[in-house]
Amino acid sequence: MNFKEIAENRQSCRAYAPDKDVEQEKLDRILEVARLAPSACNGQPYHITVCRGEAAKNVAKATQGMGMNKFASDAPVMLVISERPYVASAALGAKVKKNDYRSIDIGIVAAYITAEATAQGLGTCILGWLSDDKIREICGIDGTVRLVITLGYAKEDDKLRPKKRKAMDELVKTVE
Ligand SMILES: Cc1cc2nc3c(=O)[nH]c(=O)nc-3n(C[C@H](O)[C@H](O)[C@H](O)COP(=O)(O)O)c2cc1C
Repeated sequence: MNFKEIAENRQSCRAYAPDKDVEQEKLDRILEVARLAPSACNGQPYHITVCRGEAAKNVAKATQGMGMNKFASDAPVMLVISERPYVASAALGAKVKKNDYRSIDIGIVAAYITAEATAQGLGTCILGWLSDDKIREICGIDGTVRLVITLGYAKEDDKLRPKKRKAMDELVKTVE
């Protein structure tokens, strides 16, 4: 798949085949790609905790407040993305320029993860609805949890949906 094909095929998977695990080689490759993601001052101000088994089930529960994200319980792998401190130059830049580079960096690494997972034939869903304190306890991490990504094989009847997006002229303006 070229990148456009990956973008067209990636969608939030909310129906996982519960008995189909993710091969370690595929997970390793996804993490290798995540490692290549760009970040402000190359600081990579985040950490990825891979949860499988009981930990994955517990993290799934911690994304299910108010009836949300029920599907997460069927995903065999949960990738927890938590904050790490900025490197000094990015911290200075963020302060001087009043820009939240860390959120941008976390968004980019999430995009890399979901894109490579798609290329590997796997389904993902980025979850922002989560209980930070519960997940930190489950994973034994200090940094604020910003995103969880569910990872697994989509159920066979989970078809590709048409993409609903803003029209190009609403999204893009060219100035010369
Ligand atoms: C930062 C972020 C947080 C999200 N949180 C959730 C979530 O908690 N639960 C969920 O089902 N989808 C969540 N999504 C998925 C979006 O709803 C989805 O990406 C969007 O509707 C576009 O659909 P698509 O991913 O199928 O193309 C989140 C996506 C992003 C980028």
